[in-house]
Formats: sequence, structure tokens, C-alpha cells
Amino acid sequence: MKKELDYIWRRRSVRAFDGQPLTEEHFCELLEAAMAAPSARHCDPWEFIVVRNSGQLQKMAELLPNGPALASCGGAIIVCGDLNKAYMNSLSYLLQDCSAALENILLAAPGLGLGGCWLGIHPREERINALREMFSIPEHIIPAGACMLGYPATEITPRTRFDKSSIHDGIWTKESN
Ligand SMILES: Cc1cc2nc3c(=O)[nH]c(=O)nc-3n(C[C@H](O)[C@H](O)[C@H](O)COP(=O)(O)O)c2cc1C
Repeated sequence: MKKELDYIWRRRSVRAFDGQPLTEEHFCELLEAAMAAPSARHCDPWEFIVVRNSGQLQKMAELLPNGPALASCGGAIIVCGDLNKAYMNSLSYLLQDCSAALENILLAAPGLGLGGCWLGIHPREERINALREMFSIPEHIIPAGACMLGYPATEITPRTRFDKSSIHDGIWTKESN
């Protein structure tokens, strides 16, 4: 694990937080990182719902089956995409752009002393609809994914998941499967 790439190894899914809220500066830095992501044809179709209010975090935790830890995190960001802005109005491009933005948030978090975890939303209709209702999200805006963020409750160990069998060097060989 090369030291220069430490910011990659330090991004781990964090699901337990110490309860301290994120500051305005945290959200600004994280959203700036998000909007630096690559985007097909530079369309930047993303829209971000910032959730900092503990009552709203609690409600989200109850609405999303995958989000109980939202109740104790320091804040959350829902990454949505605007179908009218996405390249070729394509849902696939929209989701790819939003995923890149979400990953940038998670990569930036450890540099601010924070940790976070991706919460899958799309393509689960019931999660999409729950968020649509809670945040009054219009039809052309697609909630792609969310992340909960905060100060990790435990120490995070950097790691790699390198797996040689996933590499196909020049050609798809049987051995590489
Ligand atoms: C599209 C996507 C959806 C995910 N959804 C969830 C989720 O709903 N809940 C959760 O705890 N983790 C979720 N994760 C995080 C993965 O479980 C996690 O990245 C994976 O186990 C690898 O661990 P690491 O992030 O610590 O490297 C999601 C990740 C991705 C990319």
C-alpha cells in the first residue's frame, strides 16, 4: 500500500459514530469534493440534499431498512441526479455521475477526520419513494444513493482489497476466470 495513496486505503465503511454533528465547514468541503467528480460530457447532473438535523436523521433511520446507524451519525448527504441535466437524459449516465460524486465524498471524509458509509438507494423503489416523500423530491430528480457521515466511534485501519484473480492481462484467460 503506497503511502501516497493513503487516502484510498483510509476510506472504509464506517457504521458506528460518536454522535458529534458535522460542521458547516465539513459539509462545504465534502460537497466541494463531490462536485469535483468526473461527469459524462461535463453535465454535472447532481443535486445534494444535506441532512444535518437530528430529527430528520432519526426519521431517515426509521424509513430506510439499511440505515439504522443514521440515528447516531453526524450528518448525511443524499446524492440525487437531475434527468433533465444528465448526458443524453440517460439514467445510466446519471447514476454513474452520482456514484462518482458519492465516492468523492467518502474519499474526502478521512482527510477531515470523518468516516462514512454508502447507503444504497437506487434501484430500490421503496427507498426512492420514502425519500421522495420525506424531502419533497420532484419526479425528474432521481435519488441515486446516500451516505451517512461522522466521527468514527472506533479506530479505522487502512486496507486494500487487491485480488489478482480480478485482473485480465491483455486477454480474458480461463485461469483469470
Ligand atoms: C452501491 C452501494 C450500495 C451500498 N449500500 C450499503 C448499505 O445500504 N448499507 C451499508 O451498510 N453499506 C452499503 N454499502 C457499502 C458496502 O457494504 C462496502 O463498501 C463494502 O462492504 C466494502 O467495504 P469497505 O467500504 O469498508 O471497503 C454500499 C456500497 C455500494 C457501492
